Amino acid sequence: MKAKRRQILEILADGQFHSGEELGTATKITRSAVWKIIKQLMDLGVVIYSLKGKGYQIPDGLELLDEKKIRAHLSPTAKQIISQIEIFDSISSTNTYLYEKMKTSSINGQICLAEHQTAGKGRRGRGWHSPFGANLYFSLAWQFTNDPAELSGLSLAIAVAITRTLKQFGIEQQLALKWPNDVWWGKQKLAGVLLEIVAESHHTTKVIIGIGLNINMSQTNNISIDQAWTDIKKITGKLFSRNQLAGLLINEITTALTDFQTRGLIPFLPEWQKLDISRGHEVMLQNGERNIHGVALGITEKGELLVSDTNNNVKKFLSGEISLRLVTNDEKKISINH
Ligand code: BTN
Repeated sequence: MKAKRRQILEILADGQFHSGEELGTATKITRSAVWKIIKQLMDLGVVIYSLKGKGYQIPDGLELLDEKKIRAHLSPTAKQIISQIEIFDSISSTNTYLYEKMKTSSINGQICLAEHQTAGKGRRGRGWHSPFGANLYFSLAWQFTNDPAELSGLSLAIAVAITRTLKQFGIEQQLALKWPNDVWWGKQKLAGVLLEIVAESHHTTKVIIGIGLNINMSQTNNISIDQAWTDIKKITGKLFSRNQLAGLLINEITTALTDFQTRGLIPFLPEWQKLDISRGHEVMLQNGERNIHGVALGITEKGELLVSDTNNNVKKFLSGEISLRLVTNDEKKISINH
């Protein structure tokens, strides 16, 4: 059934109408079996128009992820570092998949991508909405040989690497970073990073670097996200190749990892500071049950956030389980009026 689903997707990928009969003949199944598969795809989040007399259409078309096409974009550094690229149609979470694999083996430089995640994970126990074929769901298994204390800076370096990739597609003007590793466009989230530590031993930390990058989410079904979001199609009006995006992202990530391994966060600081959306703004930090209110003053060389609290004491915060929220003008008005 999965092979048939893939075949139907490959036919509909051109964005044209195809009749149930044509799809049935091509895949050697009945028209009602075709309909069942179409229904399944719609449940996974793919937008499919169904028009009497014309058949089925994916209005924007769809470029399925393809290892060969991704590899065609890899730089010499990336080719050297990346050991394997695995692509799944649907998986619980690309991070969880590599996490389990890394627990029992010493994989390094292995990538997992998926068209769809059934249990995509965000930071702080949140979910990550992962409709089929709409975005990039990317994870990399990496063995980090520096002091584990430096890992909090790594997630900031990865966020910078994502912005470097986006700039290559002309996405620059309203690009911003929200500590520790959210990529924003204006006031909306465009990409997120989830770092998970698998194990630490003999000066090596096994880590999974997970990235979710929104590409064409607007066209998908059943969206329920509890924060403002955007995607590349909305920003640029264009549909870029997801395989090219994945390839160039891998290039930037591998360059960032080698730089970070030797020089820490230093080479990333100027870019980070330029894109820092919270610097000089009122912020609210949530650490478990504790809320800390203050003004963000930028980051340290280790990637810690500097916040001046209501008594003008400057404190440093490590990313870990902390979430940062910019205080909106409406909230300021409310606190003035009370
Ligand atoms: C965040 O909350 O901002 C982090 C989101 C990270 C999502 C990506 S999608 C690929 C990888 N697999 C997951 O389950 N999560 C990460």
